[in-house]
Amino acid sequence: MPQRNIRVAVAGLGVVGRETVRLLQERAPRLSRRLGAELTLDAVCDRQVAREARALKLPGCVFKTRDPQALLSRPGLDVIVEVLGGLEDARRLVVGALAGGRHVVTANKLLLSRRWPALQAARRHGARLRFEAAVGGAIPIVQSLGESLCADRVEAVYGILNGTTNYILTRVEEGLTPEAALSEAQALGFAEKDPRLDLSGQDTAQKVSVLAAVLTGAWLDPRRIPCRGIEGLGAEDVAFAREELGRAPRLLGALRLDWSGDPRVEAHVFPTLVPLSHPLAAVRRQRNAVLVRADPAGDLLFEGPGAGAGPTASAVVGDVFLLARELLGAASPESPAAAPAELAPAEDSVSPFYLRLRAMDRPGVLARVAQALGRRGISIASIHQPQSGGRALWAQVVLTTHPAAQGRFDDALADILRIPSISPRHAVLRMLDA
Ligand SMILES: NC(=O)c1ccc[n+]([C@@H]2O[C@H](COP(=O)([O-])OP(=O)(O)OC[C@H]3O[C@@H](n4cnc5c(N)ncnc54)[C@H](OP(=O)(O)O)[C@@H]3O)[C@@H](O)[C@H]2O)c1
Repeated sequence: MPQRNIRVAVAGLGVVGRETVRLLQERAPRLSRRLGAELTLDAVCDRQVAREARALKLPGCVFKTRDPQALLSRPGLDVIVEVLGGLEDARRLVVGALAGGRHVVTANKLLLSRRWPALQAARRHGARLRFEAAVGGAIPIVQSLGESLCADRVEAVYGILNGTTNYILTRVEEGLTPEAALSEAQALGFAEKDPRLDLSGQDTAQKVSVLAAVLTGAWLDPRRIPCRGIEGLGAEDVAFAREELGRAPRLLGALRLDWSGDPRVEAHVFPTLVPLSHPLAAVRRQRNAVLVRADPAGDLLFEGPGAGAGPTASAVVGDVFLLARELLGAASPESPAAAPAELAPAEDSVSPFYLRLRAMDRPGVLARVAQALGRRGISIASIHQPQSGGRALWAQVVLTTHPAAQGRFDDALADILRIPSISPRHAVLRMLDA
């Protein structure tokens, strides 16, 4: 009997696509042996396809096109890898492929988080979609949540999902200013020229949305996820947290799931102070880490490089292999589901808070701050007045609170910022309830 051939196309020959092609070519013999079938690169697509194909030394038999749509009419293709990035061209390719019964691997968290219902609808004929690389690079979190832990109730997932912000935060801990840390991250290729998507927390929110979809099958629009980035965070907060509170800031994406009825999701992205003894405090530079609390598995920690050509291509080619194995085994397709997820109100989410204020050095100001918190039922855990050197008109005040609902805290903060002797300049961080 002739050996079955699984034909793969790679759309997008950028950072990830080039490494995916290289890895596929180099490891094809080993992967083919494990599959008991040939795994072949059949087609590639890129705006600069001729140049990239030459650089990758692709043989003449590999079909080359500049138009992603041309892959859809290519006969015999089994799996399309979408690493174009962006939204609309990627959507047209992936939806077209799935609707035509082709299986897809993508690394595109923007596409997954914003077009989840359309992707699920396109899968109605049983085509598969795999996307391990979209969250945490090489960290096998998608397969673990979607498959390995299928017998568990996953109660919480939280972690560092963005290497750029973690690089900046940990370099600030090491003494750099936030501006210098960002420039360094850009020079080393860990931050984009335009870093807003990362710094604002939106990139993390997209990954939280993808993980929510993996866990519940339902769609959580990332634009609905309460999200704060690290832009307001100063070097003084980082130094103070370490020296006085024994904590370090990390931008955490978090999901909590309530399985008592239809799955209800609490999701947010916040800069959060974690105790220095916590495993997330040891996650430094561009690395990512995800903590999973599952019943009965217990607490699991996944840690590793969250991006970069090699780690991302590793996850992409791993998905291609798993799809090929499923195709050869002809496993039955899962039924798509894409109802919107029920999102718990952001204001109910509870955490201890860190608040840095600038207050005029006058009697009674702190008492008014304490009253504003007290009126909302929020109790203060500690008050600190870092020395500013000399008699300054404005004094720094740092408060930490006991656990409080986000909505109550936000209301109290609004009252505090209306006190005439309090400057509008302030910083808020969540604190991980250790
Ligand atoms: N880089 C990482 O570390 C990383 C990690 C995890 C996930 N991802 C995801 O992987 C995907 C790819 O990222 P990347 O860093 O490899 O991006 P990239 O370097 O910009 O590569 C994308 C390539 O696709 C080409 N392309 C885009 N749209 C096209 C179109 N309509 N027709 C033909 N060619 C097109 C681009 O050409 P032009 O440059 O001419 O537009 C570029 O060569 C993204 O979804 C990203 O979020 C990346």
